[in-house]
Amino acid sequence: MWDFPFFPEQASTFAQRVDLLYFVLVGLSLLFAGILPFVMLYLIVKYHRSMKANRQNPVNSSLSLELTWSIIPLVLALVVFFWSAWLYLDMTRPPPDTLEVYVIGKQWMWHAQHPSGKRENNELHVPVGQPVKLIMTSQDVIHSFYIPAFRVKQDVVPGRYTVMWFEATKEGEYHLFCAEYCGTEHSRMVGRVVAMSLADYQRWLTAETDVIGPAAAGQDTPVQLEPMALAGQQIFAQQGCASCHRLETNVRAPVLEKLYGSTVRLDTGETFIADENYIRQSILDPASQVVAGFEPIMPTYEDQLTEDQLLQLIAYIKAIGNPDGSTP
Ligand code: CUA
Repeated sequence: MWDFPFFPEQASTFAQRVDLLYFVLVGLSLLFAGILPFVMLYLIVKYHRSMKANRQNPVNSSLSLELTWSIIPLVLALVVFFWSAWLYLDMTRPPPDTLEVYVIGKQWMWHAQHPSGKRENNELHVPVGQPVKLIMTSQDVIHSFYIPAFRVKQDVVPGRYTVMWFEATKEGEYHLFCAEYCGTEHSRMVGRVVAMSLADYQRWLTAETDVIGPAAAGQDTPVQLEPMALAGQQIFAQQGCASCHRLETNVRAPVLEKLYGSTVRLDTGETFIADENYIRQSILDPASQVVAGFEPIMPTYEDQLTEDQLLQLIAYIKAIGNPDGSTP
């Protein structure tokens, strides 16, 4: 592009697809908005009372004309509909093998945590050529995570997890904005996204700053857990979760091994996929979704865990939900 920054760079696999659709929409609008004034002008002049024009036998209807102006816009509108629906579905359904990063928005900053335990504020480091999935929540009000160069934007909502994914195509630094008015310093809730080669990203991940300490490591871990899941395991132990949620006591509470991603049946007969939002809800408001065959005896952990700790607990439950211990 030329030097006038009218459009952000195209730096993700979505960028060109979004832009093409956008330009077609602009083109269609210009076409119709551009044609109509000229037709009006022509008719105003042609039938002005000073002009000699044939004003007899006015045409009352023309089937072919009416069909033309109905069918052509209908086809165009349907093309735009299916095209954008296809793009929307691609953007809302992450592929199976993504790198997961957890994001917390709060007044007025962005906080990110990588499964390796690496944390960062108002920055997000991602590898190029690898799908990245962000699992996001807010500690206070609604924010919106927006990376113009990637053409992705997703609301970040308190009390639940929203998901967004992208694949960066070009190394570089890009703007990160909050795109939802969230209070006095909303306009300063900005940051940068750093897209780097996979090797550089791995090197960055292992650089020794802001990492959850190795103190979080458990002794009797059957599988190798990543630091974020290890931190979750420690919270799991501190909060005494294991006194009910372990194999020997599974009459009191469901076993959490292999829970993540499975289908859960509640005592109401409803079924749920045990995803991040389900696990979050089960920790904060256990009585709202009691698994079939169990008593509603679990206390709520609302106000006892920070969003950070919740994400670490979820990372742990995800890790023990997978035989190889990796986050899916
Ligand atoms: Cu956060 Cu605007």
